[in-house]
Amino acid sequence: TPHLLADYRPYPFTINQVRLDFTLDPSATVVRAEIQMTRRQSGELELDIGKDVTLHRISVDGVELEPADVTRDGEVLTVHAALPDQFTLATEVTINPAANTAFEGLYLSNGIFCTQCEAEGFRHITPYPDRPDVMAPFEVTIHSALPVLLSNGNPVSQSDGQAVWQDPWKKPAYLFALVAGDLHAVSGEFTTMSGRHVDLNVWVRPGDEPRAGYALESLVRSMKWDEEAYGREYDLDVFNIVAVDDFNMGAMENKGLNIFNSKLVLASPETATDMDYERIEGVIGHEYFHNWTGNRITCRDWFQLCLKEGLTVFRDQQFTSAMRSAPVKRIQDVVTLRARQFREDQGPLAHPVRPESFVEINNFYTATVYEKGAEVIGMLKRLVGDDGYAKALDLYFDRHDGDAATIEDWLKVFEDATGRDLTQFKRWYSDAGTPILTMSEAWDAATGTLTLTFEQKTPPTPGQPDKPPRVIPIAIGLISPNGDEVQPTTVLEMTKEKQEFTFDGLSAQPVVSALRGFSAPVVLKRQLDAAGKAFLFAHDTDPFARWEAGRDLARETLVAMTGGASPDPEYIAAIGRVLADDDADPAFRAMCLRLPSDEEIAVAISDAGNVPDPDAIHEAREALGAAIASAHDTALDRIYRENAVSEPYEPDADQSGRRALRLAALGLLNRIDGGAGATSLFDQAGNMTERAAALGLLIAAGKADDALQRFYDEFSDVRLVVDMWFMLPVAMAPPKQAVEVAKTLAARADFDWKNPNRFRALIGGLSSNHAGFHAADGLGYDFLADWLLKMDAVNPQIAARMSGAFESWAQYDEARKSHARAALDRMLDAPSLSRNLREMVSRIRNAA
Ligand code: ARG
Ligand code: ZN
Repeated sequence: TPHLLADYRPYPFTINQVRLDFTLDPSATVVRAEIQMTRRQSGELELDIGKDVTLHRISVDGVELEPADVTRDGEVLTVHAALPDQFTLATEVTINPAANTAFEGLYLSNGIFCTQCEAEGFRHITPYPDRPDVMAPFEVTIHSALPVLLSNGNPVSQSDGQAVWQDPWKKPAYLFALVAGDLHAVSGEFTTMSGRHVDLNVWVRPGDEPRAGYALESLVRSMKWDEEAYGREYDLDVFNIVAVDDFNMGAMENKGLNIFNSKLVLASPETATDMDYERIEGVIGHEYFHNWTGNRITCRDWFQLCLKEGLTVFRDQQFTSAMRSAPVKRIQDVVTLRARQFREDQGPLAHPVRPESFVEINNFYTATVYEKGAEVIGMLKRLVGDDGYAKALDLYFDRHDGDAATIEDWLKVFEDATGRDLTQFKRWYSDAGTPILTMSEAWDAATGTLTLTFEQKTPPTPGQPDKPPRVIPIAIGLISPNGDEVQPTTVLEMTKEKQEFTFDGLSAQPVVSALRGFSAPVVLKRQLDAAGKAFLFAHDTDPFARWEAGRDLARETLVAMTGGASPDPEYIAAIGRVLADDDADPAFRAMCLRLPSDEEIAVAISDAGNVPDPDAIHEAREALGAAIASAHDTALDRIYRENAVSEPYEPDADQSGRRALRLAALGLLNRIDGGAGATSLFDQAGNMTERAAALGLLIAAGKADDALQRFYDEFSDVRLVVDMWFMLPVAMAPPKQAVEVAKTLAARADFDWKNPNRFRALIGGLSSNHAGFHAADGLGYDFLADWLLKMDAVNPQIAARMSGAFESWAQYDEARKSHARAALDRMLDAPSLSRNLREMVSRIRNAA
């Protein structure tokens, strides 16, 4: 049965204090809880309790409850005894962390006890009202012989075999955390703007210390930035980060004790790529920023998840833009938004940024809630301006500190701070689907007037057939035929289904630079020929719109090439100008040289009403790469040589931009040099960025046997690099070989599939190989279904998440569709499918 937003009821009790006492043991950990409660309104005392929790004792004010006074039904424990207005509920349970392969609640990762409670994991630890609007201060005592014992808040006492932690800030149970194990800290300190001294620790397994420094530096930068950009200060004496190898997602913002997937902490030049470093900095920032947007102000219920996630993603994007190149970050974010969120919004899994119903909340930690949630805030900021945004945020922190808030609360602070009515804007939260925005132009030479007419239309999504028009901020600039900007960026505010805007006093018909900075998450359709796009690609003063023009050209020629056309000379020439433009930022040029993915081409073909052929798409993309390389081999070669970095490795924007440009050039040359350049780079490179890229290119060129063996021998004891070794041969394989390669790797003894990173590497590697996964014989679908079923019995969250690879199945040909349908039905027919995977597969199956 689905949970509904409309069913929200406040909890009848307030919790004044929680005391938890853990006696850790791998297979029988004892948890004692004392919960001081005060009645707020009438209603029964209900606690959430996982099926895997064994209840031994339950008492009220020291008096053991009679068996008849307590019922346990599914995941709910109900106390029927008469209760005073204030009382202390005490429970004692045992749980089995070693048997917890779902990695939700308390579990073991390589001998380290750790927790993951968001969204509903705390009920697997102890009976409790496991909902975000119940907030309380926690005191935690841990008994264990392990050397490091951590929980939320400040340390009170640490003696042999026992540690006490006190968190003065009231918080919901999903922010609870406990860690115990043999861990070593890389430590630092930070003094906040008001002078509070904070000890910082990044805890890793012994031996991993040399790879933890970048995470610590990123934390310091995050703390400083949140003070400067938002005036937000840290509020405890310690901030602990722990890296664990088994983790279902990226990281978790538990109060004062963030727990991270080790992939997002550990990095050295030899083992991590520039992209890994950038993600580490971004995610360290993200989890830190949650301290205010998520922890101090949390969500009333899980329907409001975007309140903390959309805002915190928006903040981490601002942070990365400030640390690195803002235009390049914007382009990267739009590329991922389109690849993941547009795909979601246009398929069977489409849902509003604030969903109104769910079966399993873990299935709603989606690109729509996170990334579209961030886009919606970006639009708000554009509409109210930087000052309006700053005022609204100050009011938000002021008014709601300590609250479990809603989207209505969030919008109200913008209304109150700026005087704007956001009734129509709110549709961005309630209505799913990506609006299609059509722009047409009329030029009146006699008066020098340009009229732009926009029309918006949002296609139906599951459960939402009709959508009224939304507020769309459209950032526009005008470029004169000689390349000057005659109208700097201005934001048009569209509110109707169809609307006109005019610009006058123009001496010649300008070229319109539309949707600058990607000012709204919409699909823009306009009539502009290849020459016009090439003009914008050369002259647009807005870096996003400039890149976008090149991307459009690339996509259009690729779509035409799948139908047999030859590469568009206009595009090949435009790439030549990028190669010659040595004044432009290398990272930006690298983005311009990268071809759209196979999947992006497939979407463009579907959008045009045709059926994509994955093999033809793959061949077209290879052919376009080869055509660019043959036309520009000298320039590419020059760029490759001139952008070699000779200074000692730094993962900063400058060096990583040069490496990205150099590797983009090599990627094109690889199509015509038979892997020669990649071979020598693989032999010479001293950093993982270049080695992994070279290895990928060797795989694509079919020349990697020797390199793969050497790579494995060198890194066999570095788990994160071995993950990459499992991923690359599948992701980069020529499509016809991808499933075979995946099967061979999956049969290896070191395919430790219960480890989420290892599973994601191999299984996700296959789903990222578009033509390989969508193999015409259906073997890619069968392989994925087999592994999802196997994983589902062990870790339902991971199985459900990876099932998303099927979401676009209905856009392919009949033969592929029938294979996909069979694989989906086979999963639905399996006995004892988890609630997680069942919800995902049934929604996906409904596509046709
Ligand atoms: N709040 C975490 C973050 O955004 C993610 C938690 C995801 N949890 C889950 N069960 N899917 O950093
Ligand atoms: Zn988050």
